[in-house]
Amino acid sequence: MGPPARPGQAALTALLGFFQSYAVEVDIKDASNATCLYADWMMRFLITYESNKGDYKNTTLNLPSNVTHNGSVCGNDTLPALVAVQFGEGHSWSINLTKTNETYQGDFITLTYNTNDTAVFPDAKRKGLVTVLVKDLSPPVQLNTVYVCHNSFSIEAENTTQIFWNVTMQAFIQNGTVSKKESRCAGDTPTSAPTVRPTIANVTTAPTTTLPPAPTPPKPVENPDTGNYSLKSGNKTCFLASVGLQLNVSQDKPLLININPKTTVADGACGNTTATLKLNDGNSTLIGFTFAVKNTSASVQKFYLREVNVTLLNRLNGSVISSADNSNFSKWDAFLGSSYMCRKEQTLQINEDIQVHTFNLWIQPFLVEANKFATAQECSLDDDSILIPIVVGAALAVLIAIIVVAYIIGRRKSYAGYQTL
Ligand SMILES: *[C@@H]1O[C@H](CO)[C@@H](O)[C@H](O)[C@H]1NC(C)=O
Ligand SMILES: *[C@@H]1O[C@H](CO)[C@@H](O)[C@H](O)[C@H]1NC(C)=O
Ligand SMILES: *[C@@H]1O[C@H](CO)[C@@H](O)[C@H](O)[C@H]1NC(C)=O
Ligand SMILES: *[C@@H]1O[C@H](CO)[C@@H](O)[C@H](O)[C@H]1NC(C)=O
Ligand SMILES: *[C@@H]1O[C@H](CO)[C@@H](O)[C@H](O)[C@H]1NC(C)=O
Ligand SMILES: *[C@@H]1O[C@H](CO)[C@@H](O)[C@H](O)[C@H]1NC(C)=O
Ligand SMILES: *[C@@H]1O[C@H](CO)[C@@H](O)[C@H](O)[C@H]1NC(C)=O
Ligand SMILES: *[C@@H]1O[C@H](CO)[C@@H](O)[C@H](O)[C@H]1NC(C)=O
Ligand SMILES: *[C@@H]1O[C@H](CO)[C@@H](O)[C@H](O)[C@H]1NC(C)=O
Ligand SMILES: *[C@@H]1O[C@H](CO)[C@@H](O)[C@H](O)[C@H]1NC(C)=O
Ligand SMILES: *[C@@H]1O[C@H](CO)[C@@H](O)[C@H](O)[C@H]1NC(C)=O
Ligand SMILES: *[C@@H]1O[C@H](CO)[C@@H](O)[C@H](O)[C@H]1NC(C)=O
Repeated sequence: MGPPARPGQAALTALLGFFQSYAVEVDIKDASNATCLYADWMMRFLITYESNKGDYKNTTLNLPSNVTHNGSVCGNDTLPALVAVQFGEGHSWSINLTKTNETYQGDFITLTYNTNDTAVFPDAKRKGLVTVLVKDLSPPVQLNTVYVCHNSFSIEAENTTQIFWNVTMQAFIQNGTVSKKESRCAGDTPTSAPTVRPTIANVTTAPTTTLPPAPTPPKPVENPDTGNYSLKSGNKTCFLASVGLQLNVSQDKPLLININPKTTVADGACGNTTATLKLNDGNSTLIGFTFAVKNTSASVQKFYLREVNVTLLNRLNGSVISSADNSNFSKWDAFLGSSYMCRKEQTLQINEDIQVHTFNLWIQPFLVEANKFATAQECSLDDDSILIPIVVGAALAVLIAIIVVAYIIGRRKSYAGYQTL
């Protein structure tokens, strides 16, 4: 097979991988033998690893049919609940959940994969266990309610993408029975689903039978909520961003998708001359912003937005539906050491199909001190300086008009006065 066959093979591998994953069921009983924690879900992991040859390869880690759940615990008011599963050759996954008065919520998700597993990592350079820890940003679930999410969602961190679907889970079960009251994830409600059709090679359109029937979401008229994102280097915040994001995926007709900050996870890298913020909205949309530093003169350095990329994933199997990149931006510039602010809506054209709209933007990709934004340079759209001459001019015009009218009235009165005399 020649090189053109490769995308097809990749898609086929992904598709087979998708079918090879088995559902996991965990049913934990308490001391009185009543179910206190129940979970039934499907997941798979896309992992990028370094090969012997020094290049990076992508692989898929699926769940086999036999999975153990050692270490899973019910939890109570003081102790977090833990769902822990072990599978294959030394791989494991867990989530701990905490309970408040009325709700429960995931805290951290831990994925440990073993690159000694040659079936999955045939030529891994580093052998052994790799652990990825991610904060679970899903919103809290009411107690005595079962969390259900049929649509897939993904979490991206440290060269791994964790994809989940067909999830049913209830922690802190009060009376031994899984509730009939469901708390549905945002992805199962049709409002935020992108109706994006595959645009890549024909071969990848083969699995369209596995795509959910495309919902027709109502066009969001509201502006997106503003999210606060940050990156850390060691224990120091090195990147700060506050922004509301909206995608316009106008493949057929304009379709606006608001990015939900509550489910969005930030990842990326800080640097001295470039910095990248990667956002994963937990609902198959990935957006990356890359900033760079430029010398505007020998002593003056500014940063600017150089690149934006958007990736839309198939929510069922995590394959790429659409990927757009524009690395020719030269926007949002401000002096190094300051921040950039633009409250008005702005449009970033990524390619002919995809636009990113930003709202209430405040961003600082470099030299963040003490976890706070430095002084902001505002965009010209926010700048009221153009308005000032107009306002002053208008005021002057009114003043002149008043003087003229007063003068005319005064003269008329004067004439009248002279006439009566
Ligand atoms: C718990 O219940 C199951 C059946 O519901 C039973 O087979 C098992 O022996 C019980 N275990 C204990 C410790 O009571
Ligand atoms: C691996 O996946 C990433 C995106 O997740 C992609 O950018 C990269 O090109 C892929 N690498 C290979 C070798 O396919
Ligand atoms: C929570 O569970 C732990 C271990 O099972 C137990 O030691 C602790 O007393 C429990 N706490 C409460 C408040 O029930
Ligand atoms: C799953 O089954 C295979 C073979 O049936 C076995 O080699 C493996 O150890 C089992 N894994 C676990 C986690 O039980
Ligand atoms: C939870 O309960 C404690 C004590 O009952 C109370 O002090 C606290 O305010 C409650 N928290 C919430 C969020 O309701
Ligand atoms: C959940 O697990 C993570 C990783 O082990 C840990 O850092 C965190 O403190 C745990 N959360 C709770 C509430 O215990
Ligand atoms: C992985 O393999 C290496 C030797 O190749 C061994 O030293 C190490 O203990 C193995 N680790 C695991 C977790 O299996
Ligand atoms: C992730 O992959 C990049 C290359 O794509 C590599 O430089 C980096 O070291 C990897 N990070 C981890 C934690 O494996
Ligand atoms: C999800 O689960 C349902 C039944 O529980 C099953 O019919 C369906 O095929 C599953 N979906 C996927 C994508 O596995
Ligand atoms: C147990 O849960 C079921 C279903 O949620 C409910 O109908 C029942 O009343 C509950 N019983 C107790 C004792 O809370
Ligand atoms: C896809 O296939 C159709 C016919 O089967 C063909 O007309 C079209 O050019 C193909 N598109 C691509 C991108 O290969
Ligand atoms: C992290 O913070 C601790 C104290 O909060 C400090 O002692 C340590 O040096 C910091 N580490 C880094 C890498 O900044």
